[in-house]
Amino acid sequence: MSIQTDTKPWTVPALAQAKRDGRKLVMLTAYDYSFARIADASGVDIVLIGDSLGNVVQGHDSTLPVSVADIEYHTRIVARGLNQALLVSDMPYQSDATPERALDAAIRFLQAGAEMVKLEGAGAHKLEVIRYLHEREIPVCAHLGLTPQSVLVFGGYKVQGREDAAAAKLLADAKAVEAAGAQLIVLECVPSKLAEKISAELSIPTIGIGAGPQCDGQVLVLHDMLGLDTGHRKPKFVKNFLEGSGSVAGAVRAYGDAVRDGSFPDEAHSYA
Ligand code: KIV
Repeated sequence: MSIQTDTKPWTVPALAQAKRDGRKLVMLTAYDYSFARIADASGVDIVLIGDSLGNVVQGHDSTLPVSVADIEYHTRIVARGLNQALLVSDMPYQSDATPERALDAAIRFLQAGAEMVKLEGAGAHKLEVIRYLHEREIPVCAHLGLTPQSVLVFGGYKVQGREDAAAAKLLADAKAVEAAGAQLIVLECVPSKLAEKISAELSIPTIGIGAGPQCDGQVLVLHDMLGLDTGHRKPKFVKNFLEGSGSVAGAVRAYGDAVRDGSFPDEAHSYA
């Protein structure tokens, strides 16, 4: 049996093993070499090059302007800072509109150092993309709930899955992305009870952000957990871990400890 230890680099199969072992996964975004090094040395399991870089690095109002070249560049510079953490790169807006486009982008990210790609949504064409990448041995992380690339359709950044029908659809979508081959799933801004049910019914790990404490892991945007003023409204699920930690490394360790001991997120950082 392969057991993930602190000295062994993370692998994709080890994610599912962590869920079976009841070990919480700690995920954090990073966008450059120096912060990637700190995250890696401070015990982060999964580093995400989020397209949130459009907001917190590039200063846009949404993630829509982020390009494949942007994610490829940030993947390359973050990869140089990692020894242990698994590196996941976001598929930017419409780069996953067709299986062929998605494969081209995913190859660029994997060749730049990513080990998995993340894509938003579970529409029929997204399921086809997940299947297409999975069949070509490209590990996929799905992303459901509040999918920021859908902001124009959602009309803003809102909690998803609150009504019964929406909750049932979200659960069905989660099962569909798993069946299509996703090996990890981010749940964003979903009521805690629903995220708990989804986590219990899937065998792949769920990573919550505003999805309550019962997910199999948690993710935050680096700038948010350091309490940086990015000029954007801070959602309820954000917690400043720099306060009282004394250093960036201390903040990242405090975040990891809180995820692993179940104290983050608490009710104040979750949705009912
Ligand atoms: O882009 C990003 O940083 C993300 C996380 C918020 C999950 O998708």
